Order: sequence, then structure tokens, then C-alpha cells
Amino acid sequence: MKQSLLGLENLTAEQINNILSHASEMKKVVLSDNKKITNLQGKTVVNLFYENSTRTRTSFELAAKYMGANAANITSSGSSVEKGETLIDTAETLNAMGTDILVMRHSMSGAPNVIEPLVDASVINAGDGMHEHPTQALLDMLTMIEHKGHIEGLKVAIIGDVYHSRVVRSNIYGLKKLGAEVTLGGPATLMAKDIDKMGVKTFNNVQEAIIDADVVMALRIQLERQKKGLFPSIREYFKFFGIDESRLKLAKPDAIVMHPGPVNRGVELSSTVIDGDRSVITQQVTSGVAVRMAVMDMLINGGF
Ligand code: NCD
Repeated sequence: MKQSLLGLENLTAEQINNILSHASEMKKVVLSDNKKITNLQGKTVVNLFYENSTRTRTSFELAAKYMGANAANITSSGSSVEKGETLIDTAETLNAMGTDILVMRHSMSGAPNVIEPLVDASVINAGDGMHEHPTQALLDMLTMIEHKGHIEGLKVAIIGDVYHSRVVRSNIYGLKKLGAEVTLGGPATLMAKDIDKMGVKTFNNVQEAIIDADVVMALRIQLERQKKGLFPSIREYFKFFGIDESRLKLAKPDAIVMHPGPVNRGVELSSTVIDGDRSVITQQVTSGVAVRMAVMDMLINGGF
């Protein structure tokens, strides 16, 4: 039976821990001089991206290549999607080319869940609308473990555009399963209604949310998904919710700062925080390749 990764909601803590420990092995390959192993030799990975992406798409592509797979990228501009082909027809076409893993990003929540039963390939959700982005949360958790040694008992404060964020949803599922405490902070207009039912505390300011946090994770203000009027201006956002050195003092002295990227400099985080020694944003990117290698290897070769 093929396996897929559509979200963290239905994974067990044990499955998540297995992926994370395999990913820390894979990280050694990513950081080595000879980035070539044979785990996916002869396999084909297709990245089907209906939304813009720099790090996620490149990360999946390199992860596939480091493991010896054939990798192809399809973006909606420049493909038959622009000629009006439906998502289902496109996915079935790619499946017919011998694809073993179909990595999908789509602006509609649930799109990979529709495709998964229709194709032979394993499907990996690389972000669907405002729903889930499981490999992002896994790479975030791997980075936290590298710095803090564990997830259990950590206080993780996630600040920003919660409403539009698939990153926050996958992180809440994963972090809660592994025993972290999660607090959310952001403008009331960008807070998701009922998100506290996921077992998190919410605040309409950043100060209360980040007090004593071990991890401060900022989320991007998703201007492309916004209807107008959810907050007054970018400048006002930074004034009330942006994280600068002085706000960061409310967190634990050894707290790390994360952001899934792409960062709007001077909006979610000040430049001094982004470039400062508490920031682990570039390490998140490296963890991303390792996590995607681990997930693809386990989906194809077992252990998932
Ligand atoms: C995130 C996404 O696309 O959901 N980015 C990413 O994958 N690194 C977050 C974002 O776009 O803000």
C-alpha cells in the first residue's frame, strides 16, 4: 500500500518522532561534501506547484536529487494549467509518466486530499490553502530539537497572521502531540476563530504571548491572501505586533527566533532580530531539505 503525507493531524507522536530522528541523520548528508545517496535511485519525484515558492520547491527538488531520484518541476504558469486543464487531469497526466512521489502545493485547502486517492504516486502536501503544511512544521520541530534538545515542555509562541497560516495549523498539531505548550499572538482580525479549540492560548497582543517563550515564531503577513482592511498598515503592524530586540526581552534569555520565510523585513521581525544571534531562520532552511529527504525516503522505502 502506498503512503502519503497530507498533514500532521492524523500522525501519531511516534510517527513524528521517527521522521524527526531520520531527518537528523539526513541532515548529515545535507551538510556533507558529498551530497549523494542512493535511497531514491530510479524513482521519480514531481513537484506540482500552483502557488509561488522559493524554498519549499527548491528544497523538495534538492532533497530528491541528493537521494538519487529524477526530479521535475511544474508550476501553474508555463504549464497546461494556463490552458484550463483541471487539477485532477493534470495530476493524472503526471501520474501516468511513472511518478513515484507527487509533491503538491495548491491555494485550495484540501486539494491534495482530493488528488491522493486518484493517483498511484505517494502524495506530499507542500501547503494547501489555509489548511496544512506538514513538512514545514516538521522542519520547525527538527530545528527546535537541535537547539533545545526536546519538544516536550517547550513554550512556543507563534505571532502574526494566524488566520491565513497553514504553517501554524501544522505546527499546532505537531507541537501539541509532542507535548509543547503553544501560545498565539496577533491582531484580533488575523486570529482564527475557534483556534483555541486546538488546545492553544490566544492573545490579541504580542507581549503576553511571548512571555517566557523558549521559541518565538513569527508568521508572514500574507498580503496575497488578504482582503483589504484586516489591519491598518504595515507600519502600524510592526509598531504593535512586530518583534524587535525590546519585545524579545520578554521571552526566555535563550529563546530562539524562527520564521518560515519569506520574511517581510521590518514587518514581522526587525532586521536586527533577523540577522541577530537568536535567529535560526537559515538553519530552518537546511532542516527543510533534511526533513523532506527523510519523508520521501520513508514513504518509498518503509518506516513511515
Ligand atoms: C509558508 C507557506 O507557503 O505556507 N512558506 C514556506 O513554505 N516557507 C509561509 C508563508 O508563505 O508565509
